[in-house]
Amino acid sequence: MPITKICCIGAGYVGGPTCSVIALKCPHIRVTVVDKSYERIAQWNSSKLPIYEPGLDDVVQQRRNKNLFFSTDIAQAIEEAELIFISVNTPTKTFGNGKGRAADLKYVESAARMIADIATGDKIVVEKSTVPVRAAESIMNILRANHKPGVSYQILSNPEFLAEGTAIEDLLNADRVLIGGEESPEGQAAIEQLCQVYEHWIPRKNIITTNTWSSELSKLAANAILAQRISSINSLSAVCEATGADVSEVARAVGLDSRIGPKFMQASVGFGGSCFQKDILNLVYICECLNLPEVAAYWQQVIDMNEYQKSRFSAKVIESLFNTVTDKKISLLGFAFKKNTGDTRESPAIHVAKTLLDEGAKLHIYDPKVEESQILLDLTHPSVTAEPEHVRERISIYKDAYSATKNTHAIVICTEWDEFMELDFKRIYADMMKPAYIFDGRKILDHDKLQKIGFIVQTIGKKLIRSSISRVWGSQTQM
Ligand code: NAD
Ligand code: UDX
Repeated sequence: MPITKICCIGAGYVGGPTCSVIALKCPHIRVTVVDKSYERIAQWNSSKLPIYEPGLDDVVQQRRNKNLFFSTDIAQAIEEAELIFISVNTPTKTFGNGKGRAADLKYVESAARMIADIATGDKIVVEKSTVPVRAAESIMNILRANHKPGVSYQILSNPEFLAEGTAIEDLLNADRVLIGGEESPEGQAAIEQLCQVYEHWIPRKNIITTNTWSSELSKLAANAILAQRISSINSLSAVCEATGADVSEVARAVGLDSRIGPKFMQASVGFGGSCFQKDILNLVYICECLNLPEVAAYWQQVIDMNEYQKSRFSAKVIESLFNTVTDKKISLLGFAFKKNTGDTRESPAIHVAKTLLDEGAKLHIYDPKVEESQILLDLTHPSVTAEPEHVRERISIYKDAYSATKNTHAIVICTEWDEFMELDFKRIYADMMKPAYIFDGRKILDHDKLQKIGFIVQTIGKKLIRSSISRVWGSQTQM
């Protein structure tokens, strides 16, 4: 029987965009996205959606209150739906067994328990959240231990591969959709029902089906391998800085090998986002539990290299500014973990800001999409400071890059927003303290041009200091 009603538990970065696209492509399916947060649902029903994603507003506007609904009536949505996505957050545990590494499945468990409590008819329950391998078994145990007479469940794994900032594009033109399920006839029938939903816009050959555990592990594996590429190129960026090689040239030369490819080879201040670190830590924890310490150590190194990169970049800023930033004004351009999103989860900007604040700097921050309240929340979080009032006094948040950089000693680029490439750096230079520094943590600016204007430029994976110092000395000699 084709699916006609879908419920999605969790109206976040994944549940919202995924269900909006399903509603767009399947106008005959009634899609209800539910969340326990009244505020989030109210935002989904307003003109200012809770998340910024290019193209999302348009899709929501087309389908909202037609076949796409956002609601806090979780019970009704579960009761009505034939298929239920669990798309709740699965953060790293902050206490207890596996603290700092294992995925916290409390929200998945509570979603499963709600389904078991409410459902009076058969349901296909789909893990959309990223979970440890064999999480489906735990969900099944909860559902089967609490089921009502005559109610049966099928659990599928259907991990989401969208990246923030390109979520709508990724959903519309997914490289692949992955569905894992039981090998029983009932399991295969459930897989087929979910395949039919996606087939409204994804070619069948791009929908792959596997057993449940392969599907769960593939999600962790994909994120681990993507992050591993970034850590690999970032590790080489340190070699470049020490030798005179240029990491962009190295990445290009290496990436042109068709076996390697050019994507995810952009050296940076470090990767951020809610997924990479969390999912690798989860993988490391699973390996430790499986008594595979060598495998655990291998993947842990991807995270360690990322920490090293963030620290190395922050240290470079301090060292370059005569080894002291106390009371210096430094502008941070970009606070989101990547461009085209307002999301700051695990943003490398937080790490850079913390290091500079710890050294006594005053920060002038500008990001095109991150709300002021979010920046304040992130930088006064207990993991960043024990003195939130002190931090509040030392940060100012601006509405544009020109006012954020005015009268500052240095600019630190933390996010690769396109608009930063278009800035009038002559004007910015004129308004800055001298010598004026730029630290390009994303390698997006024209460094030669900046040096000609007079900036001292530092970036990732390329030695620029000598030419800039000689330029400064050169200009002093001329005076
Ligand atoms: P999120 O924090 O943005 O959204 C999760 C939502 O679930 C929240 O609004 C929360 O209130 C709600 N929720 C939690 N428990 C609930 C419950 N019992 N009932 C109702 N609502 C509940 O998280 P996200 O970024 O959308 O991530 C969701 C999952 O998808 C995670 O497992 C994540 O790893 C995975 N994922 C995320 C991305 C991404 O780019 N963000 C990409 C792929 C996969
Ligand atoms: C990632 C995965 O790409 C996606 O498939 C998964 O579903 C969720 O996790 P996301 O974290 O949203 O997506 O963004 P992504 O584009 O992967 O970037 C992650 C981080 O890596 C960002 O901080 C980004 O700036 C950084 N990055 C990315 C680099 O530093 N260099 C690169 O070459 C690519």
